[in-house]
Amino acid sequence: MLSTKLQIQSKLPQVPTSIFAVMSGLAHKENALNLSQGFPNFESDSKLIELVNKAMVNGGNQYAPMPGILSLREVIADKMKSLYDVSYNPETEIIITAGATQAIFTAIAATVKKDDEVIIFKPAYDCYEPTIELFGGKTKAVQLDPEEFSINWEEVKGLITDKTRLIIINSPHNPSGRVLSKHDMLQLENLLRNTNILLLSDEVYEHIIFDGEKHQSAALFPALAERAFITASFGKTFHNTGWKVGYCIAPELLMEEFKKVHQFNVFSVHHPTQIALAEYMKSPSNYLELGSFYQQKRDLFLSLIKESRFEFKPSKGTYFQLLNFKNITTENDYDFAVRLTKEMKIAGIPISVFNEQNLDTKVLRFCFAKTDDTIRAAAKILNKI
Ligand SMILES: Cc1ncc(COP(=O)(O)O)c(C=O)c1O
Repeated sequence: MLSTKLQIQSKLPQVPTSIFAVMSGLAHKENALNLSQGFPNFESDSKLIELVNKAMVNGGNQYAPMPGILSLREVIADKMKSLYDVSYNPETEIIITAGATQAIFTAIAATVKKDDEVIIFKPAYDCYEPTIELFGGKTKAVQLDPEEFSINWEEVKGLITDKTRLIIINSPHNPSGRVLSKHDMLQLENLLRNTNILLLSDEVYEHIIFDGEKHQSAALFPALAERAFITASFGKTFHNTGWKVGYCIAPELLMEEFKKVHQFNVFSVHHPTQIALAEYMKSPSNYLELGSFYQQKRDLFLSLIKESRFEFKPSKGTYFQLLNFKNITTENDYDFAVRLTKEMKIAGIPISVFNEQNLDTKVLRFCFAKTDDTIRAAAKILNKI
């Protein structure tokens, strides 16, 4: 029984339950196809699962070293060298985290103080803003145009003040599937060069990029790399989002601060998974083939719904596809998403929840990280709407 005197003053009074929990919960209750939350409905490579099992059987079951096991940090450094020709010191510049979410949380916690300003781009992944708020920072949001999701860098320049501490970018972008170009990154580099502003580059979909595009990591641009926390997710790359293992890369000066928070935030991350990933990552094809794997799924999905009443532009990266429903109904996106789940038995995510002031652009996000059978079943429903 709670004492009537007990009162909690929320540190995050505006934060509702995450839309992913809401829509996944509803999909489950309604027995609907769940294309809302971003996770695959197929298994991780059995070789990787065997490697985790082996690590457990061989006794890798106690605390891992605080920054992660060195062999895993070394293969990440090798990957950064071979893909982007940049050198990160595995001893001091790479930390294994409990998913990208913890990497993002820790980077913000380590750098944002009361009244610092943080620039983000909306629609934005939902963990950035509450974390900024939790540490007393102020979010300054740039609403991207709903057609192209392109960034007006002049607008960004106009938002920078002497209080700007951090800019958060995300490419390939959830939810739009937009990919930042080299030109975008050069403009950002020009804005940040010779400033004291840090960058958080959320690159969890680094390997899920289509149509021959090249991922423009912040690591490739010297004036960005020197100030960037780059966050990554093994869950997204190796089809095991439930394992919640990722990492953060940053220059030593930044990583020293990151580490101070990390050691009291989680201290260290699931050890057997790290042992397995260190071995599995030795074969680059395990992540380099991901783009073509998901491109086939995107193409299957889009070819099957091309006659539907939804309008779309093919996603350029991530495993999300936006579908515009303005030809179908004038309902707001949230109501439409709920109705589709209940009546048509398919769940997507209403985009307004990621937008500034919940701007409703009549768009839902669907996740195509699904078996081909599920994609076919989803398309069949979408074609009937
Ligand atoms: C853009 C973006 N960043 C971060 C994350 C979180 O990744 P993780 O599951 O590794 O914490 C997600 C997951 O959906 C995401 O879409």
